[in-house]
Amino acid sequence: MEKSRILKQTLFLVCLIQISSSASPPVIAAFSSSEVSIAEDTRIETVLETISVTDNDVPPDPIVCNIKSSTPANGPFTVWKKDGETNMNERPTFTNLPANLTIKEDAPEGKVITVLSFTDPDPYQDIEPICSVWPASEKYKFTFESNSNKLKLADDINEPEPLDYETTNQYKITCILYDGYLYNEDAYVNLAVLDVNEEPIFKEESYSCSLYESEIGVSQCDLGLTVTDPDSDKLDLVLLSGNNSERFSLINNDKKLTFGINYDVDDNAMPTDVLLTAGAVDEHGLTGTTKIAITVKDVNDNTPEFTSSVTSFVVSETQELGALGTVTALDKDSGANGEVTYTVQGGSQALGYVSLVGDGGITYSSKYPQR
Ligand SMILES: *[C@@H]1O[C@H](CO)[C@@H](O)[C@H](O)[C@H]1NC(C)=O
Ligand SMILES: *[C@@H]1O[C@H](CO)[C@@H](O)[C@H](O)[C@H]1NC(C)=O
Repeated sequence: MEKSRILKQTLFLVCLIQISSSASPPVIAAFSSSEVSIAEDTRIETVLETISVTDNDVPPDPIVCNIKSSTPANGPFTVWKKDGETNMNERPTFTNLPANLTIKEDAPEGKVITVLSFTDPDPYQDIEPICSVWPASEKYKFTFESNSNKLKLADDINEPEPLDYETTNQYKITCILYDGYLYNEDAYVNLAVLDVNEEPIFKEESYSCSLYESEIGVSQCDLGLTVTDPDSDKLDLVLLSGNNSERFSLINNDKKLTFGINYDVDDNAMPTDVLLTAGAVDEHGLTGTTKIAITVKDVNDNTPEFTSSVTSFVVSETQELGALGTVTALDKDSGANGEVTYTVQGGSQALGYVSLVGDGGITYSSKYPQR
């Protein structure tokens, strides 16, 4: 069995009266006895002593009674207002808290969340709310403006839209009031951040793609596109119209790009450099974009054709050695693929007396023997 302990506690009580013009001091009846013994198993909220305080002013001024000091300090005793009594100090209270409020994640700096309203039935001193924010690491995003009682998003933090649903979607802002003796009870704002649809974001501002001219779907390039959606929406990738984007198409789950038509750069039929815009469209129709710079390389896909009408040269006995004329041919391919070189493939016995130079010139190079 536990031995009962003896705890001796001395309480000093102070009662204050509101200043009024005809103030007469409150009359405090003394404790009925100077010492009260209580059992160890006394339940909390058991009344130990009743004191009576009266004020003789008409009407009576509010009276506030509190324990001023005790020995040992912080003893487990409080002064209670007795039921039915008036003019005892009461807790200050917020009249619009607790509250569950919402705010959009794109709310601007300085946005007012709510205007706190509070009362103190028996004001003894000026009261001013003090609010704390959970999570504390984001306390700086909120501010309480004491002259207007506005609880709002901070407006001096250089973040145009301080909230982000994807990072924090719930705040608890707890506010306290203290009238010098008593605190308010349970006042908070549960602030839910509402998601606002945001557009998909491509990792890069532009991507490049190198293709060879080819039939539809043949030449392909890897794009390495990376696109994310802040709201984790399902995305569709498309090539936006413009710059003949229909000549190209995305394939292989948008990892690759190829031709949507038979693409031909010969004779400048179609451009070798094309800038397209790719778009990622989310479920709500918001689109993020990136550029795709396409280079189409020529392929040696054309055979050169002779364009000169001359098909034979006639040499008379008196013909001097020297140039006879030229043959010309054209190749539709571009660049080096379109350059033509000329070679002799075969011929009659006259072949030994003429020669061909690189640019198509035919020269009578050695005298045909006279009979
Ligand atoms: C806030 O919402 C919670 C959860 O829905 C609910 O339990 C609570 O009563 C609400 N508080 C107020 C003040 O509406
Ligand atoms: C088309 O090309 C031009 C010039 O290269 C570029 O400025 C423009 O943005 C392109 N249009 C699209 C839809 O990509």
